[in-house]
Amino acid sequence: MSAPMIEMKDVQKYFRVSKGLFKTGTEQVKAVDHITLSVEEGEIVGLVGESGSGKTTLARVLLSLTKMTGGDAVIDGVDLSKATHRDMDKLHREIAVVFQDPASNLNPRETVESSIMRPMVIHGVPRSKAKEKAREVLQMVKMDLKYLDSFPHQLSGGQLQRIAIARALALSPKIMILDEPTSALDVSVQAQILNLLLDLQEQMHLTYIIITHDLNVIKYISDKIAVMYLGQLVEFGPADVVGNHPSHPYTKGLMDAAPILDPRDRGKEKEIMKGDPGSLIDLKAGCRFYARCRYATDECKEKDPENRILAPGHQVACVHPLNIE
Ligand SMILES: Nc1ncnc2c1ncn2[C@@H]1O[C@H](COP(=O)(O)OP(=O)(O)O)[C@@H](O)[C@H]1O
Ligand SMILES: [Mg+2]
Repeated sequence: MSAPMIEMKDVQKYFRVSKGLFKTGTEQVKAVDHITLSVEEGEIVGLVGESGSGKTTLARVLLSLTKMTGGDAVIDGVDLSKATHRDMDKLHREIAVVFQDPASNLNPRETVESSIMRPMVIHGVPRSKAKEKAREVLQMVKMDLKYLDSFPHQLSGGQLQRIAIARALALSPKIMILDEPTSALDVSVQAQILNLLLDLQEQMHLTYIIITHDLNVIKYISDKIAVMYLGQLVEFGPADVVGNHPSHPYTKGLMDAAPILDPRDRGKEKEIMKGDPGSLIDLKAGCRFYARCRYATDECKEKDPENRILAPGHQVACVHPLNIE
């Protein structure tokens, strides 16, 4: 088997923050804490977790927008901690991003054409070629070429997100990181954008990491699901297993919290998770989900759960995993 497209080992990103207005000193925020995760070429990995669990920080590490404080990440053969300028240039072409807020993806003073051309021009693509490619990618996202001269304020949220996707495609990436790409859009438009993303993935055999709040969406589109809780990866595995028969009590809590779409399943019993995730500051030993977990025992309070491999490609960080034979 070929090497994974993305291979993370014990990736950490800790921030130092001030203790507050009337206190001296700093404290540590463990936004990403020892994450080990591999993504194969052409795979769609859905990344879920409550707000503040470190999803965007992990994405920013992979995009080299922020430096890891520990661990290793190898992306398409490039080791981030040892990368030369040349390696980084290659990675910046190969890995593209679309953020949640369409407006923040684009400069309000630039036309669609120059927004799409900018990354190409920065990477030394001749202007004539970049112009040609801008037309090509705009068609790939099913937009009329008349929009080349538009400014962001003249476009709808869905159109802006299509343009952000077109721009991400301009350098023919291998990997796309989509951070809540549809969260800011109307429901009807969300489905169109998701379907567009899935079509593009299939056509170009792209590798996707999709961060989303929408659990029904993640089950529907992902090959694998990765679940984060307070900076840690608590479960990772095939989407049907993690989505329908989760092993981590937190994953179960999340899946139970998703609205039931199938009327035949409406009678199903659900456990609604109580409490909130709490703070990433001054974390104590033991499982971070301890206080909210109905299966917790003393053992969970005392030590950090180790990663257990339940089946090939299915890992869970829990002492009492559910749904195992
Ligand atoms: N630049 C930063 N400085 C300090 N803390 C940060 C910084 N960026 C993110 N954080 C903190 O890291 C944690 C994870 O944030 P984030 O990755 O945005 O989570 P998510 O995307 O899952 O909502 C949060 O507690 C957030 O406040
Ligand atoms: Mg985020």
